[in-house]
Amino acid sequence: MTDLIPELRTPTAPEGTGRVKGGMPVSRVDGRAKVTGSARYAAEEQAPGLRYGVVVSGTIARGRITAIDTDEALTAPGVIEVLTHLNRPKIRSWDLAYKDMTAPGGSPFRPLFSDRIFYSGQPVALVVAETFEAARYAAQLVKVNYEEEKHETDLLATLDQAYKPRPMKAGFTPPSSKGDADKAFEEAPIKIESQFYHGVEHHNPMEMFATTVIRGEDGHLTIYDKTQSSQNNRWYVSRAFGLSKDKVTVRNPFVGGAFGSGLRPQYQLTLAVMAALQLKSSVRVVLTRQQMFSFGHRPETWQKVSLAADKDGKLQAIKHEAIHETSRLEDYVEVVVNWSGQLYACDNIKLGYKLVAHDRHSPIDMRAPGAAHGVHALEVAMDELAYKLKMDPLQFRRLNYASVNPLDDKPYSTKELHQCYDKGAARFGWDKRPLEPRSMVDGEELVGWGMATGIWDSLVMVARVSAVLHADGRLVVSSAASDIGTGTYTVMSMIAAECMGLPLERVTFQLGDSTLPMAPIEGGSSHVTTVGGGVHGACEKLQKTLIKIAKAMPGSPLAKAKPKDIEFIDGAMQLRNRPDVSLRLSEVLAAKGVDRLEEKFFMTPQMAKQRKFTRAVHSAVFCEVRVNEKLGMVRVTRVVSAVAAGRIISGKTAASQVSGAVVWGISQALHEESFTDHRFGRFMNHNYAEYHVAVNADIHDIDVIFAQEDDRIVSKQLGAKGVGEIGIVGVSAAISNAIFHATGKRLRSTPITPDKVL
Ligand code: MOS
Repeated sequence: MTDLIPELRTPTAPEGTGRVKGGMPVSRVDGRAKVTGSARYAAEEQAPGLRYGVVVSGTIARGRITAIDTDEALTAPGVIEVLTHLNRPKIRSWDLAYKDMTAPGGSPFRPLFSDRIFYSGQPVALVVAETFEAARYAAQLVKVNYEEEKHETDLLATLDQAYKPRPMKAGFTPPSSKGDADKAFEEAPIKIESQFYHGVEHHNPMEMFATTVIRGEDGHLTIYDKTQSSQNNRWYVSRAFGLSKDKVTVRNPFVGGAFGSGLRPQYQLTLAVMAALQLKSSVRVVLTRQQMFSFGHRPETWQKVSLAADKDGKLQAIKHEAIHETSRLEDYVEVVVNWSGQLYACDNIKLGYKLVAHDRHSPIDMRAPGAAHGVHALEVAMDELAYKLKMDPLQFRRLNYASVNPLDDKPYSTKELHQCYDKGAARFGWDKRPLEPRSMVDGEELVGWGMATGIWDSLVMVARVSAVLHADGRLVVSSAASDIGTGTYTVMSMIAAECMGLPLERVTFQLGDSTLPMAPIEGGSSHVTTVGGGVHGACEKLQKTLIKIAKAMPGSPLAKAKPKDIEFIDGAMQLRNRPDVSLRLSEVLAAKGVDRLEEKFFMTPQMAKQRKFTRAVHSAVFCEVRVNEKLGMVRVTRVVSAVAAGRIISGKTAASQVSGAVVWGISQALHEESFTDHRFGRFMNHNYAEYHVAVNADIHDIDVIFAQEDDRIVSKQLGAKGVGEIGIVGVSAAISNAIFHATGKRLRSTPITPDKVL
């Protein structure tokens, strides 16, 4: 079979997997490759004469480098070169050349560009050696002198410096308002006003950021990189270094988690390419876990939510403002407050959003950017107001259910949130919940039940997909998509197999190479609607062509058949319910005299239709906590997450996405925070010993339910809406609300560590 890029080691489903239908719980087609180690990641690629680069990280938050002494490092055994801003190869000076496809407004950070220091941990040199060990040793021998300037990294001390961000990046809209929320809030009988604080969080995927640049004899660079878009990083390398498209290929066939951290090129890519160009050799650069804390993060965020209701519990005013940090270079935007204008029916809404510029690296999108913190604040505030009204928190949300978008009166393309409330509450047993806090005790522990609503946008982007049917009956479908562990290989193979009536093992989906047909970044939970829609479109075109050829074949049994009566089953096309009237697909190709048939599809969202609707996924999260007040310990013993995300294409990987996100939500609620020592403007706990993430002992029952939903506005081809990010939204709020129910203590900031619970 041709048309496969051999170096990609594209996984296919094991023999005997058979036919699949949308929604089926299919195991990952890449599962075997991953557990046997045959799936190679960016830092595992080999090349003859490979050199190893180790990054020297800067130690001040702001200022400039006055001198770098590399003499000692250069004399260490095995060391080949030490790159700094003084001797690096030529790169473009025009800062916009470093603007990748997902960059926010401003000027991107340029690694080793000049003597300027913008943040603590900034790369200041790259030691390149014959072995990793030699480079790591020599990296300690590089001496850097700085001229320090006064830095700022404290959000709460600088809220008065907040400003409105420069124009937003694509996909984000500035917050809007409606009615007179200030007046309505003043006049309402029942109200609450609360402030929220969230520290910085870091992504911490299992796989470290890594780049292996393999230099061909002709100077072509094949770059294995940890990224959520091979094409974004190919574009970036070409622009930053002035290399034409055919001189650079970026590959990411396997990615060990990213969660948004791979949406933009990270500095190890730039440094590895610099070294490969300078030394004319293949080079690998892998960041350490500590260095993984020296680029984007979920920003430190302050919020204020004011809610007011009438005596019956109808919302009268929603006010939500948020301020978070960004770098001095770029206006990173994640808006935070927008969903507060979309979720509940209310005539008076006021939303505000600002940034404060600090001496930090720009934040970067992290699973459900903006909503993870914004919906936390809204949903804890909703719980507070429900208690002021002495009303069940779920009942309060149902009472204020929005059946159109309250901000602009647009209908939702689909919104089965009612189903999430009904099914989630039933599964959880919410009807047995006593309203009063501190009313359930079990041994040493207070038991609390809490819930929250979740919401996230339904995005569709543009993509190109190619589908090639081979004479041996195999189908190869391609697009430069990514699989960051989300299940892209599996779901795309399923869509193609179902559409073409082929057993799953006869279908290969190849992704992860910048030379494949154009695909967007794997972000915003949009890959299924976008690339998946394209896969479906390409397969439908293939069917049309096959039908046309089949009907024209001499003596064709399908000559008189209407196209809609022809179905594709097990490598053949047949008249519906008439297995005796059929043609093998291989016969059709033979009749045409070809050994392959290709169709391409250009997937675009139906913009005109979509504009008339608000498009979002929804969820309801219910959870049980057990709190030991003597120790301040919280255990999350049960979570039910009910999600309405359109048609679910791959039942198993979708449920895995949501349960994985719930694990992270628990981690966010109870553990995760990157602390800054403001004297140095530096993250202190940049390792797994001190940056706590949830471990197995923290995780108990997680139950995922999907609502019945089919959204042909968002996804004409599939009815899907995307499940990647919604799973985390609302989880930390539900936990916070459950802790209130258990203890009577209202905790508005995350992580909810024992000192806050005591
Ligand atoms: Mo997602 S934060 O768009 O990878």
